[in-house]
This record gives sequence, C-alpha cells and structure tokens, in this order.
Amino acid sequence: MAPRHELPPLPYGAADLDPYVSSRTVDFHYGKHHRTYVDNTNKLIADSPLAELELEELIRQSAGHPERAGIFNNAAQVWNHTFYWNSMRPKGGGTPSGDLKARVEQAFGSFEAFSKEFATQATTLFGSGWCWLVAEGGTIKIVRTSNADTPIVRGQLPLLTVDVWEHAYYLDFQNRRADYVAQWLSSLANWEFAAGNLARASR
Ligand code: FE2
Repeated sequence: MAPRHELPPLPYGAADLDPYVSSRTVDFHYGKHHRTYVDNTNKLIADSPLAELELEELIRQSAGHPERAGIFNNAAQVWNHTFYWNSMRPKGGGTPSGDLKARVEQAFGSFEAFSKEFATQATTLFGSGWCWLVAEGGTIKIVRTSNADTPIVRGQLPLLTVDVWEHAYYLDFQNRRADYVAQWLSSLANWEFAAGNLARASR
C-alpha cells in the first residue's frame, strides 16, 4: 500500500534560497529531516484507524494524548515544515501590502516594530521550536511553539513561520541564530503567502 502521507515538493529549487538557506541546508533539512518526519508518521499510524485521517486531523486527534506523543511530534513536524518552506521565497523579504500591512500596523504600530519583536522572539526562544505570525480572534500576533508544537491545535491560524531548530541554520550560520533570523526577515520571508493565509481566515 502506498504511504498515506507524502513529502510535498519544494515550492522552489533547492539552491534558490542561497546563501541565506543554502542548498546544503535544504538537502539535509528537507531531504532528510522533513522526509524522516513523513516516514515516521506513516510507520507509526500503519494498520491503525489513524491511518485514515488527513494530516491536520491526525495532528488534532494526537495532540494532548501522551500515548500518541510520537505520532503528534512527527505529524506536526510534517505540517510545520511544509508551512515553513512556503513561508520563504527567493528574493523574499520586503514588507507586506494591503490588508496584511494594515493588520501588522494595527497590532504592532509599524512593520519595523513588528520585525524587531519577531526577531527578538525567534532569537530568544529557548531550545528548539518555531516562531509564528498567527491570526486569532480578529487580530494578529506573534507566538512561539517548542519542539513540534503547532498553533493549529491552539485555535490559531498560522500566517508565516520561521524554524529556529538548529538544523534550520547551523550549516549556514553556526550558532548565530540572530543573524539567520535577520536574514530570513530581510531576504526570505514570503509576505504573499502570509497575505493569502490571512485572506482565507477573513472569508
Ligand atoms: Fe526543521
């Protein structure tokens, strides 16, 4: 039987985010880490009723169940990483426009203030995890999750995320997470993707 979950194709070439996220990092991060989360998810749910569930439903039905921690961790990491690859684009960065620009200014005062806060939160997250821009209750906010945890099980709608696990930046920046986050914001962040997610939330 074919695996239930698959590694989605990257939305760009493996070398297209170079030099901020190098092709070597993509080879490991996408080709090994992300693929392993997919493979582990399929192994863990094989021959169980959970094998029938779509990925987001599998994550929701595993969250908060200690006996399903392994399934949650791997399935959520599949989802988080796919969202992360889409949160970047070659020649990204810049500033959001339209409704998202207005929402950022409403929530943070200015895009510069948002960027500063996002960079601080992403850089100071202790250990492994994710920094997100999410929509919740009619506003947008920055939230952080540790390890595999994901806003989709907290009633929040993710707009954009940066992976701050060391495997995301160590080959390119070694221990300099602040430099990775700064370059991520200025050169990779995909504001069109974030705007599209916000538009879906507003419908
Ligand atoms: Fe990662």
